[in-house]
Amino acid sequence: MTISPDELPLNEYMTERAKTYGFERPHRVVANRWRSELLRRYSDSDSLALDVGCANGLYAIQAAPHYRHVTGVDLNDEVLQSGRDRLAELEISNVELRQENAKALPFGDNSFDMAYSFAVLSVVPEDRPILQEIARVVRPGGRVVLDMAGSQHPSSEYFKALWADQGVPYNAYRYQELRQLLGQVGLVPERVYGFGVMEIWRSLPVISRLQGLDAVIHASAQLYDLDFAVSNLPWIKSFAPRWYFVCRAK
Ligand SMILES: C[S@@+](CC[C@H](N)C(=O)[O-])C[C@H]1O[C@@H](n2cnc3c(N)ncnc32)[C@H](O)[C@@H]1O
Repeated sequence: MTISPDELPLNEYMTERAKTYGFERPHRVVANRWRSELLRRYSDSDSLALDVGCANGLYAIQAAPHYRHVTGVDLNDEVLQSGRDRLAELEISNVELRQENAKALPFGDNSFDMAYSFAVLSVVPEDRPILQEIARVVRPGGRVVLDMAGSQHPSSEYFKALWADQGVPYNAYRYQELRQLLGQVGLVPERVYGFGVMEIWRSLPVISRLQGLDAVIHASAQLYDLDFAVSNLPWIKSFAPRWYFVCRAK
C-alpha cells in the first residue's frame, strides 16, 4: 500500500509500537474506559461495525461480543498483523483487520450500521476526507462515534507539542467549528461527552511531569469521575480538550 510522505511519521510511530501498542492499558486511562462503554452502549448484536484506524484491533476486540461483525481498517500492516495474531490467540472469529486507507474506503455506500474512530482524526494530515468516507459507508440513521480534540483548552498545546515531537500534526477544533464540519460531511451530532477539563495541569511546566496527578483527577475506577462531572457542565463542555461525538449518519 502506498503511504504518502505526510502519513509517514505516524506510520513509523505505529511500526515502532506494533508489538506492544495499547494492549497493556485499555482499562487504566479514563478515555479507554469510556471508549469501551460507548462501544457497548451504542451496540446492536445484529449490526456490522467499522473501526477506522483500528491499529492492532484493541477496540475491535472489545467490540466483538457486542456486534455481528467488526471490520477494522488501518494503514499500518505491522500493527494489523500483531492484531491478527491476537485475534487468533483469543479465537475471535467475527473481526477482520484489513490494510486500507480510510481516505478511500473500498466499501460501497451504506455498507455498515455503525462506525467508530478513536485517536485517529486528531493525528492525520487530512481529517475531512476520512469523515466523508465514514459518512458515506454508514447507512442513513446509523451511528458514528468519534473521538475529536478541542483547541480551546490549555492542554491542547501539550498534546500538539507531544505529537509534533514525532512529526505528527494535531487537529483540534473549537466546539461550534467541529459541529459545523460534521454537519457538512453529513453527520448529525446526537450526544457529546466531554473529557479532560481537569487536566489543565498537563499544560504547566514541571507540574505536567507529576504523573500522580492523573490518579487524583481520575481517582475512581468509575466512568463518572470528577473530570467527567466538570467536563460535562453546561458552558464548560465546549472548552474541553477532548470530546466523544455520537452522531447519526444522514
Ligand atoms: C494513534 S493510533 C490510534 C489507534 C486506535 N484507534 C486507538 O484508539 O488506540 C492512529 C491509527 O490510525 C491509523 N491511520 C492513520 N491514518 C490512517 C488512514 N488514512 N487510514 C487508515 N488508518 C490510518 C494509524 O496507522 C494508527 O494505527
